[in-house]
Amino acid sequence: MYNNSICAFGTKNSAMKKIVISLGGSILFPSLEQNRVQNYVPVLKEIALQYQLFVVVGGGGEARRYIKTARDLGIDEGTADEIGILITRLNATMLVAAMGDDAYPRVAESHAEAKKFAEHKKCVIMGGITPGQTTDAVAAILAERVHASVFINVTSVDGIYNTDPKKDKKAKRYDYLTPRQLLEIVGNVQLVAGLNTVLDIVAARVVERSGIPLVVLDGTDPKNLRSAILNGNYKGTIVSNKKIQPLPI
Ligand code: UTP
Repeated sequence: MYNNSICAFGTKNSAMKKIVISLGGSILFPSLEQNRVQNYVPVLKEIALQYQLFVVVGGGGEARRYIKTARDLGIDEGTADEIGILITRLNATMLVAAMGDDAYPRVAESHAEAKKFAEHKKCVIMGGITPGQTTDAVAAILAERVHASVFINVTSVDGIYNTDPKKDKKAKRYDYLTPRQLLEIVGNVQLVAGLNTVLDIVAARVVERSGIPLVVLDGTDPKNLRSAILNGNYKGTIVSNKKIQPLPI
């Protein structure tokens, strides 16, 4: 467990630091009935008091169900992606509404729009934007475009493993990876609609070129995200060009 504040990536008293979070649809909406929206809203609101927050919401199981049906109907992958994007935006719309006055009241449909919305100093929320990628890539590029201090991927596992920890009990978790090592790990995965890996290849490439540190952590309990950003405690994987030394707040 690291005890370094993400504040270590920047100081609090300069202009508000920016944080981009890729919030998996399967985290926010494991199902419509048992969603985590109410659990995430107070945490996101609290973080947004100190940071300019951008949240990119994924499609989760609902997107995968729609994509499967599209595929069964013989619909091409690009169109299936478009359907997936609509579901991510639906989930994002739910979060925008649940955040009330603390979020900009519209889902951004491009990075440029997200930057524009951020001028209002509220949490900016978006989903997917273009076929051939996942919301992790959207978030990685957004982090690059807004010069975020850190990019956080909130997922259903507590970091990046050498094999799938849900299938392999001997899977080894990495505390630290270089962007190049990350690319090697995710590089062999085929890109199809509804892909479900810890990070897509486009996102991994952008992480490498931007040099913005990526933290992958378990978001099944939103307290993990809160603790990582506000207290500096997290269990997960950091991907960075240099091994960032734990720093107290
Ligand atoms: P997600 O980003 O949700 O993919 O987008 P995911 O890996 O299933 O993530 P979780 O489960 O939410 O964590 C769902 C699908 O929408 C399409 C892709 O087909 C993706 O698999 N999509 C999403 C795009 O084509 N472009 C985008 O910008 C975003």
